[in-house]
Amino acid sequence: MGLVTSKEMFKKAYEGGYAIGAFNVNNMEIVQGITEAAKEVKAPLVLQVSAGARKYANHTYLMKLIEAAIEETGLPICVHLDHGDSFELCKSCIDGGFTSVMIDGSHHSFEDNIKVTKQVVDYAHDKGVTVEGELGRLAGIEDAVNVSAEDAAFTDPDEVQEFVERTGVDSLAIAIGTSHGAFKFKGEPKLRFDILEEVQKRLPGFPIVLHGASSVIPEYVEMINKNGGKIPGAQGVPEDMLRKAASMSVCKINIDSDLRLAMTGTIRKCFSEDPAQFDPRKYLGPARASIKDLVKHKIINVLGCDGKA
Ligand code: G3H
Ligand code: 13P
Ligand code: ZN
Repeated sequence: MGLVTSKEMFKKAYEGGYAIGAFNVNNMEIVQGITEAAKEVKAPLVLQVSAGARKYANHTYLMKLIEAAIEETGLPICVHLDHGDSFELCKSCIDGGFTSVMIDGSHHSFEDNIKVTKQVVDYAHDKGVTVEGELGRLAGIEDAVNVSAEDAAFTDPDEVQEFVERTGVDSLAIAIGTSHGAFKFKGEPKLRFDILEEVQKRLPGFPIVLHGASSVIPEYVEMINKNGGKIPGAQGVPEDMLRKAASMSVCKINIDSDLRLAMTGTIRKCFSEDPAQFDPRKYLGPARASIKDLVKHKIINVLGCDGKA
């Protein structure tokens, strides 16, 4: 099926009450682990690349890895820029073959967010590329920004209609209590489903995106901590909450931290079991296998997009 935009995928996901997994990719083993899992369970995919990933692995290498995955799996895959922070970065990704970009103007004022988002939409739509915007601010750390809990802000449902109409975005990321990284809630996990419901009422049929949606799976946190690591107080989004969001208007669920934890836990375990090991295939291979298991689990039990490719 090949390289696709998010348009058709999200339309079907909305109608079917499921979500597409948007997994962050940084190297070959991650691309292979995710796409092998999706192939086995016939799931459509968004593979997303952050500015940091692009700096680390190089745009062309990542693009070629994804093209290779499409050739190997025959799956529909959308290649998406995660958290683009400027028009120039979005333009560079569009010119370099991405089929979708996120312009994250959530740190700007409402008017400035609209301005930069509309500029990206005009350029992207001209080239047949879809655009994700963001309203509201998630707490946590990404490459470009570090938002403290005090600076985080829930999305205001009163703003979403005007934002979508004036920018022409194809999907919208909203803040309902999730955050980036491995430490998401200070007490009991709680998502503002009332905000999601309100947004869905204001934007019927329109695809919503949930960032910061890793569940911080205890098995992998334990694997890290038992093998010389130190991940204190890990806390993720409960899977039943994600499942509920996917049955509503959330069509794209972003997952990166869970991949990092699975990969790191597995590699630490390999070194604990065999400290003399120095063949990268002997620890990156198992790390790739654990990513595959994790992604299969997400697709079947959380996203509900198995069999939808
Ligand atoms: O939301 C952020 C993603 O986890 C990407 O993280 O900017 O460190 O690549 P990164
Ligand atoms: P997590 O840190 O919860 O995996 O979120 C990833 C994300 O939102 C990427 O944009
Ligand atoms: Zn994010």
